[in-house]
Amino acid sequence: MGILIVLLILLIIHIHGNGHHKEARGNINPKRGCDLFQGNWVVDDSYPLYNTSECPFILKEFDCQKNGRPDKLYVKYRWQPKDCNLPRFNGEDFLRRLRGKNILFVGDSLSLNQWQSLTCMLHTAVPLAKYTSVRTGGLSTFIFPSYDVKVMFSRNAFLVDIASESIGRVLKLDSIEAGKIWKGNHILIFDSWHWWLHIGRKQPWDFIQEGNRTFKDMNRLVAYEKGLKTWAKWVEDNVDPNKTRVFFQGVSPDHLNGAKWGEPRASCEEQKVPVDGFKYPGGSHPAELVLQKVLGAMSKRVNLLNITTLSQMRKDGHPSVYGYGGHRDMDCSHWCLPGVPDTWNLLLYAALIQN
Ligand SMILES: *[C@@H]1O[C@H](CO)[C@@H](O)[C@H](O)[C@H]1NC(C)=O
Ligand SMILES: *[C@@H]1O[C@H](CO)[C@@H](O)[C@H](O)[C@H]1NC(C)=O
Ligand SMILES: *[C@@H]1O[C@H](CO)[C@@H](O)[C@H](O)[C@H]1NC(C)=O
Ligand SMILES: *[C@@H]1O[C@H](CO)[C@@H](O)[C@H](O)[C@H]1NC(C)=O
Repeated sequence: MGILIVLLILLIIHIHGNGHHKEARGNINPKRGCDLFQGNWVVDDSYPLYNTSECPFILKEFDCQKNGRPDKLYVKYRWQPKDCNLPRFNGEDFLRRLRGKNILFVGDSLSLNQWQSLTCMLHTAVPLAKYTSVRTGGLSTFIFPSYDVKVMFSRNAFLVDIASESIGRVLKLDSIEAGKIWKGNHILIFDSWHWWLHIGRKQPWDFIQEGNRTFKDMNRLVAYEKGLKTWAKWVEDNVDPNKTRVFFQGVSPDHLNGAKWGEPRASCEEQKVPVDGFKYPGGSHPAELVLQKVLGAMSKRVNLLNITTLSQMRKDGHPSVYGYGGHRDMDCSHWCLPGVPDTWNLLLYAALIQN
């Protein structure tokens, strides 16, 4: 009799355990503690998540198919975390959860890339819902009035300020005036990296200032770290965690140098498939390590959308010669849409529904 009861209990535990297992595999709730950022890219016939012909406000520079990119496999890749699944994107659920809320992306054109992806993902999920899209200066505001949701993008390449002064344009490593418009939003998603590298005509400052010291130049990773620390202090001083969730879009890698993935002569041009496997041969990105260090020293919680490794694998995801505008020649930095930034938004969605 005793043995029977024990067997019965074991059976119940087994069934229960199995049920749990199913749920985790069934896309609903990724297992707690599962690392969504470790995995590989797999072909999925249900991809892409949208077609840009249904997304009338897509910017030309991201619409690679429209710009003549002939291969199509690159839109078919889904990110598969190693130990669980990413939740399926449900745009209507996203909008319902965020009713009455403002989402603000702050950053450079890679932040713009993610903002565009999210607005396309949401619009194609609820094609009949009215939307308005306005741009005033550096601020783009996309509104779904019936859900009372605003998805905004504020262009800001360094997060810290650049001021015009008598000596010239000064990059101020310890000043954040723009923070005024960041306050009070419910979800903030920051990014910054690419502009820290620019030199020559693309460098939009003449001097770097830290405290009362002015420099003609500085090691760019050191400057990046100082700027990020100022941003971190802004978050510590100004964000009410009961009201606002803060994300950082990790460092988005480019693919100009094929040596990083074992094709020394290549760039992103004519790449049609991702790097195979779970690891990027080129290793960690130096800026990613700086970002990790600064976020790790913060006392307030910032969700890192740890996109670097998974994007490093996508040497096939860039516009290359099928961009438009400033990068008409060869764009190995931005990403085609539909494409990699859609996955960044799936990771954002996963983080939002997990709480
Ligand atoms: C980001 O993800 C990569 C790949 O899983 C991992 O190696 C790295 O440590 C992660 N970074 C952080 C800050 O968690
Ligand atoms: C998007 O839609 C257009 C027009 O319906 C079609 O020609 C094109 O093949 C579609 N693209 C993809 C990637 O499905
Ligand atoms: C610069 O700032 C440091 C520390 O804030 C201070 O000790 C120093 O006197 C200042 N120097 C000048 C020239 O103002
Ligand atoms: C956030 O909410 C908690 C629980 O309601 C409260 O104890 C805490 O003081 C609040 N924090 C701030 C910064 O308002």
